[in-house]
Amino acid sequence: MDQIVIEGGNRLSGKIPVSGAKNAALPLMAACLLSDKPLTLTNLPQLADISTMSQLLEQHGVQIDASNGAAVFDAADVDNTVAPYDLVRRMRASVLVLGPLVARFGEAKVSLPGGCAIGTRPVDLHIQGLEHLGAEIDLDGGYVTASAPNGLTGGKFIFPFVSVGATENLMMAATLAKGETVLSNVAREPEVTDLAECLVAMGSKIDGIGSDTLAIQGVDTLNSAEHSVVGDRIEAGTYAMAAAITDGDVELAGVKAEHLDAVFRALADAGLEIGKTYDGVSVRLGKGGLKGVDVMTEPFPGFPTDLQAQIMALMSVADGAAMITETIFENRFMHVPELARMGANVNVHGASALVRGVDRLTGAEVMATDLRASSSLILAALAAMGETVVRRVYHLDRGYERIEEKLAACGAVIRREKE
Ligand code: EPZ
Repeated sequence: MDQIVIEGGNRLSGKIPVSGAKNAALPLMAACLLSDKPLTLTNLPQLADISTMSQLLEQHGVQIDASNGAAVFDAADVDNTVAPYDLVRRMRASVLVLGPLVARFGEAKVSLPGGCAIGTRPVDLHIQGLEHLGAEIDLDGGYVTASAPNGLTGGKFIFPFVSVGATENLMMAATLAKGETVLSNVAREPEVTDLAECLVAMGSKIDGIGSDTLAIQGVDTLNSAEHSVVGDRIEAGTYAMAAAITDGDVELAGVKAEHLDAVFRALADAGLEIGKTYDGVSVRLGKGGLKGVDVMTEPFPGFPTDLQAQIMALMSVADGAAMITETIFENRFMHVPELARMGANVNVHGASALVRGVDRLTGAEVMATDLRASSSLILAALAAMGETVVRRVYHLDRGYERIEEKLAACGAVIRREKE
């Protein structure tokens, strides 16, 4: 297993290219199952989760041809509509094949993903939504079987609360359902919008993209399309905080600033100076230094849960206190004890964590527990005095492309080695 070793205390300065967003790429890849014509994706990041999704699609019978910076997904000869436990348990986003498979082939059998480190994360909304589109659902032996031998039919579904994955699954399924589907209280995350735009390029008829209600007119078949994966706002937000925590100065290329409005509002209140560039943003810590700010995670356009762990690392060295409240997942504070090992002063009370800024963190051996927890430890390590060893970095490899290379190019002293 790999570990990452960081010598803290070096300012970051330079330009960081932002990769395509993992959380956009995964549903986009699943969307290839909706058509017998090829889907070409560019700006696809090279990450462990992308390889897992490729393996899943290949075992369904999808041909994948990746070359010259583009990957072509050809689902003309799908011969298996079962998504096995072994792949689904490795990556929850595997459940995104459920909607496309049942919509195009009238049947799908997908393993239930089970819980994960950040919470129980059920898929009940995915299932209820498909039932509203006429699918018969059976839960047996740890699998969900969806069948609609005569195809799905349009329907209305009001999400009781916002779910990114269920919105994506149902939106994909509805593109091939007979008649109109209206989905209300949908997720508005930029990754959902990116998927909707790709589906439109494939010939789907979707109104209300970017709003909380989507009206989808089903079509008989979808066509081939080419789509570039949107830049990763979470990766960009992570590097913006890396700049701040090292009193540095970075330019992030390939991200849309408006996807980070809530994050940049919080960071500006914390003392960062953020400017727009022609293809991204520039970020530096202002002369007044870093101040504590309160943050609450919310669905987009609110502050993303996927940056909560990272802002906690940042706040741990801010002047004053910060109250960080997590409203999306019930168990997403596992980075707290690890940050504490580096000297952070954090008290968790239910869904809120009170972070009292300390003058300095110190390097330690720490263990990554999930993807974003891992990146918060990397941020803390960049600022800490001395050496930090982050173990179990396979979590990090699920979502950050070439992270050591990108940070080292800006002056971080960081290396990967075998444990
Ligand atoms: C997506 O997960 C992201 N993953 C997550 O990113 C992200 O944290 C999350 O959205 C919230 O923004 C991908 O896009 C691949 P949800 P998803 O359905 O779709 C509950 C990362 O670090 N829920 O919006 O699984 C659920 O338990 C990851 O990159 C149900 O109860 O999230 C959670 O509490 C981690 N029933 C809340 O809703 C359901 O059927 C929001 O989950 C579905 C969800």
